[in-house]
Amino acid sequence: MEQTISISRQNESKLTDTRTLPFGKIPTDHMFIARYADGQWNDPKIVPFHELTLSPMALCLHYGQTVFEGLKAYVMADGKINIFRIDKHQERFNRSLARMCMPAVPKNLFVEAIHFLVQTDSDWVPRDDDGSLYIRPFMIATENRIGVKISDEYLFMVLCSPTYAYYDHPLKVKIETDFVRASEGGTGEAKCGGNYGASFFPAQKAKEEGFDQILWTDCKNHEFIEESGTMNAMFFVDNVLVTPPLGGSILSGVTRDSILTLARENGMKVEERAISYKELQRAFEEGKTVEAFGAGTAAVVAPIESISIAGTVYNCYLGEDAVMFKIKKQLYDIRKGLLPDNHKWNYIF
Ligand SMILES: Cc1ncc(COP(=O)(O)O)c(C=O)c1O
Repeated sequence: MEQTISISRQNESKLTDTRTLPFGKIPTDHMFIARYADGQWNDPKIVPFHELTLSPMALCLHYGQTVFEGLKAYVMADGKINIFRIDKHQERFNRSLARMCMPAVPKNLFVEAIHFLVQTDSDWVPRDDDGSLYIRPFMIATENRIGVKISDEYLFMVLCSPTYAYYDHPLKVKIETDFVRASEGGTGEAKCGGNYGASFFPAQKAKEEGFDQILWTDCKNHEFIEESGTMNAMFFVDNVLVTPPLGGSILSGVTRDSILTLARENGMKVEERAISYKELQRAFEEGKTVEAFGAGTAAVVAPIESISIAGTVYNCYLGEDAVMFKIKKQLYDIRKGLLPDNHKWNYIF
């Protein structure tokens, strides 16, 4: 790829044993930054990681014009680096930005920023089988103005941080019927900061009750399952893989899309349709085997151990032959280059 962005390198790397680092706590040596002003992107560059100087009047601090993405780079079996589904993340980033009245990032800028940042910090991409480099593109409104308005100035940045298993155990989740994450017509399908800030209070309450995560339900009836934390929800019951449809209130997960594509190719029956917690409860009470899992970039596939429905805890299937583990392995093998990449999901350099 032709390089149009400048790179100034850190004198001395801070790289340590990446396995000892907690998720998302330690950035790599460099970061990408570009400024938007007067209707255009200016001065894109890779620089040593440093603190930002921001006026307390910056609009992002007041009215929440912030959008982010999360994707990963992996070391392949042959030692090359693979950024998984960069196109799909770029498209979603721009959809989120449009919803928040923020300027689009051209595809070449997004791809170049990530390509050269990961290349610059390539020593930080974990070589272990269960490791990856988490990549965090984000944009914030930086115009200095206290009045409520759409910002005319922005920063687009990319950070990276090495990561390993996101959860070290299968999850205990609770069907949430008091609070909602998103509503139709709201910002649920945008990856904007406010969605996450608003989810902390119910999630914290669930943690205090002994759960790892919430399974959100729809805002009208508190009945149909939406998604969970930073993951889309999937269920395997009666030999069908069922997941809630993309109706505007849930995030259009890239992992969700990859899993559904592979499941269909494997000949599995897949349904993207509304699924109520009552339907799940019936399946449990009829003694059916229910697999449940979260699908997302950070955890990839997060097995769910139990689901609490109106105070009753139902156990899910976690056997080694579970469908979720087969698909997870298939996804892993595609990313590693051990299986053919039929859909051009890998961006390799
Ligand atoms: C709310 C929410 N749902 C689902 C997902 C899963 O999306 P993806 O698979 O693209 O990471 C995420 C993570 O980005 C998320 O934040």
